[in-house]
Amino acid sequence: MRILLIGAGAVTSRLNVLLAEHGHAIEAQMATFTPQHLELFDFHALVVVSPESTVGQAALTKAAEAGKLIYVVAGAADGLAAWANGVGVPAVAYPPSDVDLDNLLQQIRRGEAGNLAADDQYRRAVLGSDIAARLQSGMSVRKIAVTSPKGGTGKTTVAVNLAVAFALCGITTCLVDSDANAGALQYHLRLDRVNTTMIALLRRELAQNKSDTMAAVAAGANFMNAFTPVEGLPTLRVLPGLVTDDLGDEALQNEERVTEILGGLYESGMSSGGVVIMDVGINPAHVVHRAALRLAEGIAIVIKPEIPDLAETRRWLARMIGSLSASVGKAAAYEFIGSRVKLCYNQVVGDGFKAAHRMLQDALREDKIELALIPNGVLPMVEPRLAAQAVNSERREDVIVWRYKKEKLEELAPFTESIVGFASHFVPAVHESADRVGLIKKTQKTKRGLFGR
Ligand SMILES: Nc1ncnc2c1ncn2[C@@H]1O[C@H](COP(=O)(O)OP(=O)(O)O)[C@@H](O)[C@H]1O
Ligand SMILES: [Mg+2]
Repeated sequence: MRILLIGAGAVTSRLNVLLAEHGHAIEAQMATFTPQHLELFDFHALVVVSPESTVGQAALTKAAEAGKLIYVVAGAADGLAAWANGVGVPAVAYPPSDVDLDNLLQQIRRGEAGNLAADDQYRRAVLGSDIAARLQSGMSVRKIAVTSPKGGTGKTTVAVNLAVAFALCGITTCLVDSDANAGALQYHLRLDRVNTTMIALLRRELAQNKSDTMAAVAAGANFMNAFTPVEGLPTLRVLPGLVTDDLGDEALQNEERVTEILGGLYESGMSSGGVVIMDVGINPAHVVHRAALRLAEGIAIVIKPEIPDLAETRRWLARMIGSLSASVGKAAAYEFIGSRVKLCYNQVVGDGFKAAHRMLQDALREDKIELALIPNGVLPMVEPRLAAQAVNSERREDVIVWRYKKEKLEELAPFTESIVGFASHFVPAVHESADRVGLIKKTQKTKRGLFGR
């Protein structure tokens, strides 16, 4: 493991030798650590010898935010030891005994093997352990499909930004490309090396073809390895790409197996305590799309407030209700659609979406479809240059909400706040952590008056 060693005393020097002896590469040893060092050095883990260094909690929080693993050597009365315990960072006593040193080496090995939860460290370090716990318990809709009845409305943009927003807010998020027409996630997140892709996973699983209960139970853990971690955001994992020219692809013919595999992907995200977001194509007749939609607890429909999109949405809803009614009955069909569908207007300019939404409601009423749909998301048009950079620049941090968190560009605030608003329709607790990490403007505490906290 590449380690940045912080400290300038006898214990640190001994550690330097010991870590090297155990095959670790010491990137540098120095007495202080600041967030600037995150850019300057290439490392995976920070080992901090507290009494022999000057390191602030804020700097360590930044390191956790960037996905670095942290290990602390500190005395029991040391503030950093208390911080480490609260945040779930491995800590051993100072001065360390031989047992402590063994323990430290073992913890570093665990981190190297990926058994140490960088996402949990991020969550607790960035948000504080109290919010982190509430976030986990207050989850509601965790299997999310993002789709649209028409192409080019911004599905992928919404899926990616929703995922990054959830992840920045401390929620472990699995983002899956289930769009058979255009797999674009790897470009949005600038992934050059990926563990596997959706189509490769489907082919692999189909070749094994062991469709039994044990396989289904194992699927959650099995599929966790399919996701590629996103560097710099430890709470985000991605499974890209379904692009296949071969519509006769064998891996796509067995609907039962495809459904099981998508179920396994949803489950694997659930088992990590987080949310799963699937970017689903426009064609509900495609096996992968159909499975992703059928298994979703929340279906985000992304449309532009324009007549062609409204017309397609009307048709899409009528088709969904129609085909569901045939199998589960009319009442259950309404219940399914009404409780799952969340409308998201995208590329909105001004408040034109209100008239558009009224048109959609009128059209549905004309079709005798009584659905109380509300605009759950209203995402403004982003300045074209910034929207282009979000996919074209070399930095993955230019994804709109991520860039807003880093650079606080005023132009990106409306989109970011709206994405957080939309996200809170799935996980209400997201609002509080978005406030904490600076994705939305601080709530005005002074206005709460005498009875506020
Ligand atoms: N809110 C927005 N503001 C500006 N441009 C947007 C916005 N949403 C999407 N776009 C742009 O619209 C185009 C299509 O978006 P994309 O997410 O790829 O759609 P889809 O996945 O539905 O095909 C892209 O060029 C994207 O940058
Ligand atoms: Mg797309």
